[in-house]
Amino acid sequence: TQDTPALGLHIAITAGPTREPLDPVRYLSNHSSGKMGFALAAAAAELGARVSLISGPVSLPTPDGVERIDVETALQMHEASRRLAGDCDIFIGCAAVADYRAEAPAEHKIKKVESEDALTLRLVKNPDIIADIANERDAAGGRPFVVGFAAETRDLEAYARDKLTRKRLDMIVANDVSSAGLGFGADDNAALLLWRDGEGEGGESLPPQPKTQLARAVIERALGCLSVRPVH
Ligand code: PMT
Repeated sequence: TQDTPALGLHIAITAGPTREPLDPVRYLSNHSSGKMGFALAAAAAELGARVSLISGPVSLPTPDGVERIDVETALQMHEASRRLAGDCDIFIGCAAVADYRAEAPAEHKIKKVESEDALTLRLVKNPDIIADIANERDAAGGRPFVVGFAAETRDLEAYARDKLTRKRLDMIVANDVSSAGLGFGADDNAALLLWRDGEGEGGESLPPQPKTQLARAVIERALGCLSVRPVH
């Protein structure tokens, strides 16, 4: 139907930051507010999809009709995402996942050592959630359609194309997070959409606009790809 083009589809979306504990009272994280991912979830639900929203710690209400799974760390987000990915038609990674976590979070609060001017923390790499989903998709043969984001502060298109290829994504939403009033925490965003293997050649540029509006355009473009190339 025209109003609900996503009816019958299951869309999973990650949103927000992850929080990587250093000790019981401290963590590593970033400035993601969850607004972009929650806007995607709301748009997908409005277009008729069944939506699973895997969210890091944010203070936003759950959009109507959306099933929300709360997580804190990248490892928890990885597990929840893998559990859902096999069952969904579209997987969208909008979360700002910490690339590293503390190798061994301290059991007790880390004490300041008066005699030392520096503290060394050893970090280890987190799994790349969206790359794992895309690899498992390729192994299973075709589903879901995988959409990543790229948050860049320079050379937007080149870095985004590299992520699109390296992570084996079907589509990437590249946003310049150094522009004032856009990106992390803002209500507005702008994006360059790119597709794998020459589809949509030069990409599509979406000018600055409310995240709610941009989200709808992103979902519609992903749905358009499914109807051209059914994945199930
Ligand atoms: O939450 P808001 O305040 O509204 O801000 C929105 C946003 C700027 C966070 C969002 O638009 C955005 O760009 N999200 C992706 C942020 C990011 O971490 O980008 P990246 O270029 O580091 O990662 C590339 C892709 O790999 C992303 O799809 C990311 O979810 C994924 N990734 C990254 C690392 C990792 N360990 N696992 C992943 O799945």
